[in-house]
Amino acid sequence: MSSKKLIVGNWKMNPATLDEAKTISKKTRSISQKLSNLEVVVCPPFVYVDSVIPKKPTKGFSIGSQDVSFEDNGAHTGEVGAGMLSNLGISHVLVGHSEKRKAGDTDSVVSKKLLKVVEHGMNAILCVGEEKRDDGGIHYDVVREQIKNSLLGIPNKYAKNIIIAYEPVWAIGAQEPMDPKEICEMAIFVRKVFSDIFNQDTAMKAKVLYGGAVNFRNAAEIINISQVDGLLVGRESVNMPGFKELLKAVDTI
Ligand code: PGA
Repeated sequence: MSSKKLIVGNWKMNPATLDEAKTISKKTRSISQKLSNLEVVVCPPFVYVDSVIPKKPTKGFSIGSQDVSFEDNGAHTGEVGAGMLSNLGISHVLVGHSEKRKAGDTDSVVSKKLLKVVEHGMNAILCVGEEKRDDGGIHYDVVREQIKNSLLGIPNKYAKNIIIAYEPVWAIGAQEPMDPKEICEMAIFVRKVFSDIFNQDTAMKAKVLYGGAVNFRNAAEIINISQVDGLLVGRESVNMPGFKELLKAVDTI
């Protein structure tokens, strides 16, 4: 496990205007630069990326993408290729977010997207998580299959560029996050699956994030108890006073 926590803000389809996007990004960048224990990545909608991306590398802050095509270029209306993103300076790309899976991304599609991301030298944030839980522990099977299928055929040399974000679907957009003790159990399990696919050394170095109803009030406690390497934050990442507080709280851990 590496010591710097990774905080990823997934803006989803927000905010409504470019001016707001620039303001949120500027404030996030400014606070991120002042903090020493964090790496902050914000993922705006594609239309804002070029306007908010730092013109020169900025310590502790970079721009990510919410999605990518698995095609390289050509007749693919509405798609954005990994080469285009890496040329712009994108550092991380989310793949397999549950909202994209709901819109049709299967594990096989996720796997093809992930390969493009790492082949272009960016980091892939593979999102996995069960729809619901039951006493039978089916959620472990769901998460194992998603990780295995999504990493099928990904060469070992790219393992260091893969981050796993565990996001139970039922906690996304919810009022409360998952119990941090249960997050801890799942994070250990995720690392074990990663180790079975690649190797133990890589798995110990890999970052495992948690996402789902994270806010400035619960972020530090989630990390403290669950021992995850960072957080994937939706709503709170576009709520500027809240996100600033979240970053400051996590930086002091
Ligand atoms: P949320 O979303 O923080 O608004 O629950 C998390 C996510 O979808 O990544």
